[in-house]
Parts: sequence; C-alpha cells; structure tokens
Amino acid sequence: MHITVVTREGESRRIETDEGRTVMETLRESGLDELLALCGGCCSCATCHVYVDPDFANELPPLSDDESDLLESSAHRTDRSRLACQIVVGQHLNGLAVTIAPED
Ligand code: FES
Repeated sequence: MHITVVTREGESRRIETDEGRTVMETLRESGLDELLALCGGCCSCATCHVYVDPDFANELPPLSDDESDLLESSAHRTDRSRLACQIVVGQHLNGLAVTIAPED
C-alpha cells in the first residue's frame, strides 16, 4: 500500500505505508519534516494541512466540525483541503495523492 505526496518544492514522492496509519503519520515517518503536525494528530493545530487529489474525494472520511473549523483558520484553504492526521489509510485509499499546503 502506498501514497504519493508532492512537497512544497514540487517534488513528487511515493511512500509505502500500512493500513491503519494516518496520512500524517505516513508522511512524518518517511522523514518529511515540512509537515509539522505540531499537535501530534489531535486535530488541534492545522499544521498537517494537505490538498487531496479530487479522484479520491469520495473515498475520504467526512469532514468533522473540528477539522472544518481548523481549516477555516488557514489562508490557503481550498475545496481539496484536509488535515492529514484525520485521514486513515485503508485499501480504498491505496495510491492516494496529496500535496502539502503552503505554510500559513
Ligand atoms: Fe495537528 Fe493534524 S497534526 S491537526
């Protein structure tokens, strides 16, 4: 199982992961430190902001009120914005493509 990430520098990387890991954990454990994830995945910091490939939009978990409120605080929110710590990788998300959002 894998995901693909585009970094802020525009570099595309394929990262192997396991079912049950979050996208945030997958990116951090790969050594990608530009995704700060300051709260450790508690849905309280918004420093794990990513843009998700629209092809996977229907496969994502619903946006919670907390996640939506946090994203609202970002100047870079788009309709593809999600918090990477709130996306758990499963078979339905194998090959998921995300882009790290600009830093606020
Ligand atoms: Fe803090 Fe995702 S790591 S909101």
